[in-house]
This record gives sequence, C-alpha cells and structure tokens, in this order.
Amino acid sequence: MSKEDERVTTGIEGLDGMLNGGIPKGHVYTVMGSFGTGKTTFALQYLWEGLQRDEKCIYISLEEDKDAIVTTARSYGWDLEQYIDSEKVVIEKLSPADAEATIHKLKSDLPRFIKSFGAERIAIDSVSLLNMLSEDQQQKRERLFGLCQMVKDTGATTLLTAEVKDDNPRSSRDGLVEYTVDGVILLRYDFDSDDVQTSIQVIKMRRIQHSRSVKPYEITDSGIKVLTEGAVF
Ligand SMILES: Nc1ncnc2c1ncn2[C@@H]1O[C@H](COP(=O)(O)OP(=O)(O)OP(=O)(O)O)[C@@H](O)[C@H]1O
Ligand SMILES: [Mg+2]
Repeated sequence: MSKEDERVTTGIEGLDGMLNGGIPKGHVYTVMGSFGTGKTTFALQYLWEGLQRDEKCIYISLEEDKDAIVTTARSYGWDLEQYIDSEKVVIEKLSPADAEATIHKLKSDLPRFIKSFGAERIAIDSVSLLNMLSEDQQQKRERLFGLCQMVKDTGATTLLTAEVKDDNPRSSRDGLVEYTVDGVILLRYDFDSDDVQTSIQVIKMRRIQHSRSVKPYEITDSGIKVLTEGAVF
C-alpha cells in the first residue's frame, strides 16, 4: 500500500465518509472559513483524534496562547493537559508581531523539533497570520511553499487553517494557500432570513476520490458534526 493510500481520519463525524476514509497520509490540507466558522475547533478536533490513536501531535498557534487553547479544547471535553504532561502533544505559540524570531523558528528550530518529536499530525492556526510576516506576494508564496515542503519532509499530515476574503468566502485571504496545499475544506455560513446555515464542502483533495457535496454541520459540546443526511443545495 502506498503512503497516500493510507488515510488519516479527521475525527469529524460525517467528514471522513465524505473523504472516503480520511486525508491521505502525509498531505498538507487547509480548512478555510470566515471568523467563527469553527477553524480552531476543527484543528483541535483533528489533533484530539490523533491523540486517541496514540499519535504525537503539534499545535502551532499564531493567535491564542497555550492556556486559551487548552481552555477551548476543554470546553469540548478534550483534556489536553494529560497529553501535554505525557509529551504526546506540544502547543507552540508563535508571535506574528515578532517576525524575525518567528521566521527563524519556522526555518530552523521547528523542522528539527518536528522530526525529533516524531509528530504525525500538525495543525497551524492560522496560516493567514503567518502570511502577514511577509510583505510582497512573491515572498509570501515562497515562504508558504517552503513551509508546506518542510512539513511534508517530516512525514506528518498537516492542517493549515486559513481565513477567507471578506468579499469572497470561497477564497483565502491571500489567495495562495488553496493552490499550494493538497486539499481544501471550506467552512461557511449563509444567512437565510434570520437563521444561519453552516455548511462544509471538500473543494479539493489531490489523488483521492471524494464527495463535493455541500453538507450542513453543527458545532456542539463535543465538537463539529457534519449532517451527512442533510442537503444545503
Ligand atoms: N463548547 C462549545 N459548544 C458549542 N459551540 C461552541 C462551543 N465553543 C464554541 N462554539 C461555537 O464555535 C464558534 C467558534 O469556533 P472557532 O473558534 O473554532 O472558530 P474560528 O473559525 O476559529 O474563529 P476565528 O476566525 O475567530 O478564529 C463559536 O463562535 C461558537 O459559535
Ligand atoms: Mg480560530
């Protein structure tokens, strides 16, 4: 069986079925969505699933600090502390404000650390903030490409969360990540009179067959659930 035939389950009820088993192992994929659509929840759920399978995980946060992440995870019933203590998960906060230190960490310390730690799953929340470290489009593109290559070289399966454009919720803020990664999952909300409908769609997933249907999802006390029986369109 080739490596890509092996699948990494997301742990999101309903989604793994849409992916015919999960994300191809070793891929880099992105979960894109507007504020509050559940990107951080998705990333935590993905890592929690790995921890339940005894896989080592790294969460790289550009936004919330470690305590806030642990608290968010706990609100879904995912107790990360025990896994931090047993060195199964590492939460690393990188500061978008300190560009020089962050770029150095990404280029030098992090690849070494990921390999020595033996991470099988990595989540980076969010790549949009990471992209703010560069000013010009060409540099953003090169750095993003370099990051994807770096995590692939470690063999981990990596999720990058990405914000979307205010005027186009189908495109990431920089319009880059969706071209660079192997897979794109889109989270969105649509306003229907006074109700809000949240929906999920697998836009691309290189090298596998997958559903392209738009399915409703909910964020519950135990995380994201895709309602596979439901139809949005
Ligand atoms: N314990 C919970 N139970 C049910 N729903 C929750 C719970 N915690 C958060 N939510 C819902 O999930 C939403 C936030 O999800 P999350 O923080 O993952 O989104 P996000 O896409 O990362 O947002 P941002 O772009 O602001 O970072 C909240 O606005 C709330 O509606
Ligand atoms: Mg978030």
